[in-house]
Amino acid sequence: MKSNPGRHCFLIVLILLILVSVGGALAFGVAPRQQNSPANDTLTGNWAVKTPNADGTFRATYFNLKQEGSRITGYIRSTQFYYLITDSTGGPDGFTLTGTMKDGKSERKVLYEGKVVGNELHLATRRRPDAPLTELTAQRVPTGEGAMPARIEPPALHKVKDNGLARTPPMGWNSWNKFAGRVDDATVRSIADAMASNGMKEAGYLYINIDDTWEGGRDAQGNIQTNKKFPDMKALADYVHSKGLKLGIYSTPGPDTCAGYEGSYGHEAQDARTYAAWGIDYLKYDWCGARTIYTDEEMPAVYQKMGDALQATGRPIIYSLCQYGRQDVWKWGPDVGGNLWRTTGDIRDAWDSMTKIGFGQNDLAQWGKPGHWNDPDMLEIGNGAMTETEYKTHISLWSILAAPLLAGNDLRSMSPAILAILTNKEVLAIDQDKDGKQGARVWQSGEQEVWRRQLSGGAQAGRFSIERPQMRELP
Ligand code: GLA
Repeated sequence: MKSNPGRHCFLIVLILLILVSVGGALAFGVAPRQQNSPANDTLTGNWAVKTPNADGTFRATYFNLKQEGSRITGYIRSTQFYYLITDSTGGPDGFTLTGTMKDGKSERKVLYEGKVVGNELHLATRRRPDAPLTELTAQRVPTGEGAMPARIEPPALHKVKDNGLARTPPMGWNSWNKFAGRVDDATVRSIADAMASNGMKEAGYLYINIDDTWEGGRDAQGNIQTNKKFPDMKALADYVHSKGLKLGIYSTPGPDTCAGYEGSYGHEAQDARTYAAWGIDYLKYDWCGARTIYTDEEMPAVYQKMGDALQATGRPIIYSLCQYGRQDVWKWGPDVGGNLWRTTGDIRDAWDSMTKIGFGQNDLAQWGKPGHWNDPDMLEIGNGAMTETEYKTHISLWSILAAPLLAGNDLRSMSPAILAILTNKEVLAIDQDKDGKQGARVWQSGEQEVWRRQLSGGAQAGRFSIERPQMRELP
């Protein structure tokens, strides 16, 4: 391997910076402050780190920097995040930057260190306080590229008419938990094939939902494009419909999705029309990059905008709000046209995550009802990190909660035992009970809890006892 003296020097700088950092996990060493001079204003400018995705798009982090005397000002825009530089040390030969942004009620920070090397900006950061340093190289890009779009005022609030959909909690499949950024046209088709032929469709599973990473850019008229993984979304919808199933898609009210793809910001009505023209039946609308433009208090108006846009298409499209349960969404979700709303952060395929979410829903029971459901996130059943007993708890608990049931595993290769859990008739009948009354805890003693759900048919009340397993089976 060819040695690179510039890089060695940079690594030595980094190591020294680490050595002098003490205390706080994210604390970085402080390089000596430098006075601005013609020699060190080379830092000033618009820089970008671009990492190609396999689908023809790229992920970008922009550093818009200005050296002003001994300070560096500007911003760092990284996919769904936008940080103002609030602290800095040093200059082109070695600097540190702290970026700060408000995210709802909390504050996020990023720290970078780096230096200018020739025409490049060499940077290092930690993804998490305890993670190793990640090194990045930024190039100069034209002024204005990556700039945050101007704020669009959210509309005045009004009540969006009930679309009449989702009289029982939606059932189907979503790509994210298993496939994340690897979902593509062929995967969606084969998942639809599996769902249509393995008994799931008969059991009530209907929606095949493509999550984040299908998006391309926009054409000259501002129409959203798909990326290489989805060559023809209309043809895909036709295929899914030909199986007697429905197709869902994903977007955000912000400029960027959580995975850094094109969002619907400023194109809400246009995107809704595109989805309708493609034959889309379900939209998951994820707050993501909207946090860079709007406050949490503005969420209802921002979500109402897409609620109106979907209804204006005239196509029945289920509207799924995803903003992690912030701002008491259950109180206003139905008014903005929402059929379901996430009540929590992301689930993981882990007993702790699943039970923390599932057993944490007690206070929300009064808010779920036909057409409008609390959504404790998608299922992890069959993804491999819980036992079959634990997955039975997962679906039983979700059914007591009258939760949407979106399988999140690979339906093409699951075991008969997992399929049996997903299609258990008695459990699904509880989830889909037509009265739509969400269950709640009636008794708890230590690790044992009893939850009860009132079912339709008067006296026929369903009563479940779920014990958190004390001893866990090995998979
Ligand atoms: C957020 C959502 C997830 C998933 C990802 C996609 O984290 O909560 O369910 O949609 O975004 O980027």
